[in-house]
Amino acid sequence: MKYRYHFLLIAIFFIQYSIVGQEKVKKPTVIQNIDARDITSLNGLWQAIVDPLENGYYNHRYLPKEKNGYFENKKPQSPSDLIEYDFDSDIELMVPGDWNTQMEKLYYYEGTVWYKKSFDYEVKENQINYVYFEAVNYEAIVYLNGEKLGSHVGGYTPFQFDVTGKLKEKDNFLVVKVDNKRLREAIPTVNTDWWNYGGITRSVHLVSVPQSHIKDYSVQLKKNNKTQIAGWVDLENGKEGEIVNIEIPELNKKIEAKVKDGRANFSFKAKPELWSPDTPILYTVNMISQNDRVTDQIGFRTIETKGSKIFLNGENIFLKGISIHEEAPFKTGRVTTKEECRILLKWAKDLGCNFIRLAHYPHSEAMVKEAEKMGILIWSEIPVYWTVLFDNKDTYQNAENQLSTMINRDKNRAAIILWGIANETPESDARNEFLKNLSLKVRALDSTRLVTAALDTQSSAEGGKVIDDPLGEYVDVIGINSYCGWYVDEPESCAGLKWKNNYEKPMIMSEMGGGALQGLHGEKNERWTEEYQEALYEYNIEMMRNIEFMAGLTPWILMDFRSPRRHLQRIQKDFNRKGLISEQGVPKKAFYILRDYYLNENN
Ligand code: GCU
Repeated sequence: MKYRYHFLLIAIFFIQYSIVGQEKVKKPTVIQNIDARDITSLNGLWQAIVDPLENGYYNHRYLPKEKNGYFENKKPQSPSDLIEYDFDSDIELMVPGDWNTQMEKLYYYEGTVWYKKSFDYEVKENQINYVYFEAVNYEAIVYLNGEKLGSHVGGYTPFQFDVTGKLKEKDNFLVVKVDNKRLREAIPTVNTDWWNYGGITRSVHLVSVPQSHIKDYSVQLKKNNKTQIAGWVDLENGKEGEIVNIEIPELNKKIEAKVKDGRANFSFKAKPELWSPDTPILYTVNMISQNDRVTDQIGFRTIETKGSKIFLNGENIFLKGISIHEEAPFKTGRVTTKEECRILLKWAKDLGCNFIRLAHYPHSEAMVKEAEKMGILIWSEIPVYWTVLFDNKDTYQNAENQLSTMINRDKNRAAIILWGIANETPESDARNEFLKNLSLKVRALDSTRLVTAALDTQSSAEGGKVIDDPLGEYVDVIGINSYCGWYVDEPESCAGLKWKNNYEKPMIMSEMGGGALQGLHGEKNERWTEEYQEALYEYNIEMMRNIEFMAGLTPWILMDFRSPRRHLQRIQKDFNRKGLISEQGVPKKAFYILRDYYLNENN
């Protein structure tokens, strides 16, 4: 009798925890799959006012202005009227885009910039309207027609506001106070090795959906089950018992699911061809409710670890990767177009990659979708970077919000296999607790993918390194950042370096590498020459060949990127030069060393 009771409990646990998103996200942050919605773009030139003293927000008593703030976009109504700002005769900035690379005088600027967009809008009957921001760095306070809609912090995740009934046919004005000031308690905190590009850095949309619409959904293979598709569809204003159809025409599947408490759960047998780097097959999935229809292109694959190996679709896979920052090729600054995403991904493919680490923050949805189409597996992470305030509750909540939004946005992307919760964080009880909780949050939101973190805490032991960070306990895959031959040791010494792993878990060399100025040549012991970087890669690859628990790598980094910590003007000119390709798209010698390793080994 007693055991039967235990079995029952275990059965309930497994049923409940085998699909994505079983922990109902209390307030879905944004509507799922914005690209598939009826959207009106607000991209283009916006009027802007640079306001370092936040004069448009605070009065001289440094109290927030209820009235007469720049959010009112006021115009003089009479000759004697005193209005000391005017959006329409001030500067203009392109959206999406960072302000730092658009104007010399804003290159180093950190602070508040007010953005204003005027637009007409054909309001449709019985529709709900959202204004949707793909990303604004860092803090955004948003106003429509002078009324505050709300605010958001976090420079790399989407957010939206309901503007139903607030839109006019003519002369709407959307005002956004954007502030990219670095704050100690923020995520990321005050020091990063990437430029603090400020602005409305990704697209802005006006969305129109039916009163009752599909707000969110998850369609994936059940955990480690290649023939069971399971998931759910969440309706906004759906009726209890309403039927939602899930169609996968190419699999000849048409499933009915009934709405209960706003969610229609489903699970059904299917034999999809599995998504993989060699076969990046995506299936058209239609979700149809009484009043709404959303279509997505979804791939199906399984991902798991066994011992120190990673298995994709049940087969051991070696992750031949590269790290990428969201720095635009050629023009530099934030990536703003699909074309720029494709260029970076093409370079990764040319390198022989089947995997990329999108560092150190969620990149655009376009980057993830383009990578998925190209058959590139993804490590996506949040900017819990270096020494954030681990004992600060608000800092934790901020990190958890960014994590939840990242997972919520991309949970239907087969290409994403790893959620990264931190990079190079110093060991402490507060840190361990902070990151343990984040790892548990990932598992609560998505138990089908792997949790990871990039560590630089490996300790030195006789002739080698030992992976013994307590965080190893909470992750599925251990990322190691090791700069042998650059920040420590001579390149030659790396080849013989031995590694020990205290955990029976896969390790990914999440960073290794060294700097070189493209076109600078010399002896291989001359720093900054291509020959030095080339030799460093050769010795490190030699080292990595002997690490039996290494399941992949993402060397630092695909392309040189801007960083405020790189002041050696004759070489760096504000760029981190560890790229294998210059920001002008010219490969360095080390590019070919890594490419040969990927194309001729680990196949
Ligand atoms: C660190 C860090 C990166 C940085 C790199 C470097 O490991 O994670 O963000 O750019 O080292 O020093 O080049």
